[in-house]
Amino acid sequence: MAGNSNLHDSARNKQDEFYTQLSLIESELKHYKVHFKGKTILCNCDDPFESNFFKYFAMNFNSLGLKKLIATCYATSPITGKELDFFQDAKGQLSFLPLPNALPVDEKRRPYRVEITEVTDENGDGRVDLADVEYLLRNKKNALTLLDGDGDFRSAECIELLKQADIIVTNPPFSLFREYIAQLIEYNKAFIVIGNMNAVTYKEIFPLIAQNVLWLGYNCGHFWFKVPETYEEKKTDFKIDESGQKWRRMGNICWFTNLDIEKRHENMVLFRPYSPEEYPTYDNYDAINVNRTVDIPCDYYGVMGVPITFLSQYNPDQFEIVAFRKGNDGKDLVYSFSDSSHFFNVERERERERERERESKRRTVQPYFRILIRRK
Ligand SMILES: C[S@@+](CC[C@H](N)C(=O)[O-])C[C@H]1O[C@@H](n2cnc3c(N)ncnc32)[C@H](O)[C@@H]1O
Repeated sequence: MAGNSNLHDSARNKQDEFYTQLSLIESELKHYKVHFKGKTILCNCDDPFESNFFKYFAMNFNSLGLKKLIATCYATSPITGKELDFFQDAKGQLSFLPLPNALPVDEKRRPYRVEITEVTDENGDGRVDLADVEYLLRNKKNALTLLDGDGDFRSAECIELLKQADIIVTNPPFSLFREYIAQLIEYNKAFIVIGNMNAVTYKEIFPLIAQNVLWLGYNCGHFWFKVPETYEEKKTDFKIDESGQKWRRMGNICWFTNLDIEKRHENMVLFRPYSPEEYPTYDNYDAINVNRTVDIPCDYYGVMGVPITFLSQYNPDQFEIVAFRKGNDGKDLVYSFSDSSHFFNVERERERERERERESKRRTVQPYFRILIRRK
């Protein structure tokens, strides 16, 4: 599947440097504007000078009516500290200007945090835009502060920032997705984060979905992410643009959130009638198998096994989630069918004669992860 090898690389080799495009961020966050007013937003896996999450909130700081924007970055990010010549005073306060008694920041990459509580026309050009944010970061005291540690989202100082924040919005490292979500839940935070749809199959994540603690956002699909120069070239899902920037494509990207969104209250339109021939019953669970979300029958009220993509259209008022993946025997759901099972209308006698022959041809199918759901 498109982009899956990039996901595996990320998990296996801890290749976490995938930078999100502004267009992907905008097309999702436009649906949450009502939630942002008067709130403190934290982007805790985001170098402010690189992250489009930071850019999005800084650019829209006033129109969204934000109270505060905080961003922290991680020490090992290959971009951190590279593009900026900054200085620090004895208290660790950063500045881009060589202030009296300021020391140049050492060669090692140093993680920092940015806090913004207002964005005004800093450079006096008559409008408020990103240039003002950059001016603000470069010139305003206390906007940019060196972190004590490495900027790990699990560190004590980052957790202190997490506690201050109302909504956490970012694309966290894929390799730490479980821990990342667990921490948000532990601190009872609202969030909108990018992940891979396969994460719904994790034993730590699925129960949260089933209990309606978190759900999927608006956009799902395959998307391109900028990657560092050091990432190897690949035959597929890889490109280098005219500026020499490397890109990798990730498959099954989606958004995870616990903020209420309109989409979650829209009923899926169902039109296919149920028939036992087209919807076989599992051998190890009293439920029918549905191969595609669009094929969920409109007139069936028992339990149905549907693909995980169902979750991108899941409305908890229309369906309930009953179980995941396993049958009553604790094994993956399976169903059996015979090659002639579509021709049940032939005369009963002839049908019996053929029964044995069909039995010998019976095939067992184990569909890819199924979520067991029921209409409400
Ligand atoms: C998938 S990238 C996304 C970067 C940025 N949020 C964006 O969307 O463009 C994940 C980022 O998390 C950073 N990271 C990795 N481990 C981390 C950790 N333990 N704590 C905080 N950030 C981490 C990586 O350095 C990387 O920049």
